[in-house]
Amino acid sequence: MMHVLVTGGAGYIGSMLVPMLLGRGHRVTVVDRLYFGGQTLPKHPSLQVVKADVRRVDPRVFEGVDGLIDLAGISNDPACELDPELTRSVNLEGSRRCHRLAQGAGVARVVFASSCSVYGHGEGIQLTETSPLHPVSLYARCKAEVERSLLELGQATPMTVTALRFATVFGLAPRMRFDLAVNVMTKNAYTQQRIVVDGGGKQWRPFVHVTDVAEALLRTLEAPAEKVRNQIINVGNNNNNVRILNLAYRIRDAIPGTHLDIAGSDPDLRDYNVNFDKIERLLDWRPQRSIDEGIAEVHQALREGRVDPDDRRFYTLKQYVFLAEVERTFHEVAIDGRVLS
Ligand SMILES: NC(=O)c1ccc[n+]([C@@H]2O[C@H](COP(=O)([O-])OP(=O)(O)OC[C@H]3O[C@@H](n4cnc5c(N)ncnc54)[C@H](O)[C@@H]3O)[C@@H](O)[C@H]2O)c1
Repeated sequence: MMHVLVTGGAGYIGSMLVPMLLGRGHRVTVVDRLYFGGQTLPKHPSLQVVKADVRRVDPRVFEGVDGLIDLAGISNDPACELDPELTRSVNLEGSRRCHRLAQGAGVARVVFASSCSVYGHGEGIQLTETSPLHPVSLYARCKAEVERSLLELGQATPMTVTALRFATVFGLAPRMRFDLAVNVMTKNAYTQQRIVVDGGGKQWRPFVHVTDVAEALLRTLEAPAEKVRNQIINVGNNNNNVRILNLAYRIRDAIPGTHLDIAGSDPDLRDYNVNFDKIERLLDWRPQRSIDEGIAEVHQALREGRVDPDDRRFYTLKQYVFLAEVERTFHEVAIDGRVLS
């Protein structure tokens, strides 16, 4: 049994991971600003939720922690572009602060949620963990920088650090994300009978199911330290590299009556096809869920009314725009911290 601190644990991946950790008998502390609400997490005697910002959270939350899983941050390209300074302070400095605090408190392991988007405009296919990085967004540049500083920290101290580079995630979770390619295209096919393919559609992208990502995090945390120490590991499945146009065809086939619109927009610079042999070799594990299963799962939940396609909190950019507006309005109208009361 470990005491695991999960920053950003109320988000899309965290809302799948935390119940899994609890199910394995671990004690869990979540640090999250709850930008998407706190209803995404279960009530459980071994779960403590600390509503706090990673940039300012009390260092004492790291005391007695065995493992940190760092998921906190602004989690997609357009939301990161809203306020680049804020993005750097949260995604870069917030993560670095937590890693340093973990090291200072004697936390044995840190697992950082990085992204295959660090490959950016990939050169060739089947990119591996040692391929050159060409991040094309602020989001991805922050990931690459945090990876670098985390590995430096791992080399300088006894702390076991690992960066997992996730493929683009899909599938259902309590904090749903309809801003991720598989999920949003499935949702648009169902609600509008229409999918728009941006950026030409030729660009490669690897995908991975959210449950598989949660299992990979768990597997990394519980693996013998020598296997994962100072490692960067891609998380996905070779078979789940697809061109965006191919993804659109699959969804059109799964949801009859869907029309495809190939938009004449600028080419998408994010184009990467990734090799996932290392995780299988190192941890004897590979993701289990296919893209087609993910499409079917999301489609079925929509059909059965189990997920609301209009909930603003399921759209990362929309929610951050809303929160910025709330903050502006609050400053305009609040007197002594009160608005209507
Ligand atoms: N979902 C994907 O496709 C994917 C792919 C690669 C990497 N990742 C990374 O995995 C991590 C989790 O992603 P997700 O999809 O669950 O995103 P998410 O947006 O659902 O979750 C992020 C969580 O971080 C919290 N948060 C944001 N700023 C914070 C702050 N300053 N202090 C404390 N909490 C804060 C949010 O409230 C949210 O609950 C992120 O770092 C993301 O970049 C995700």
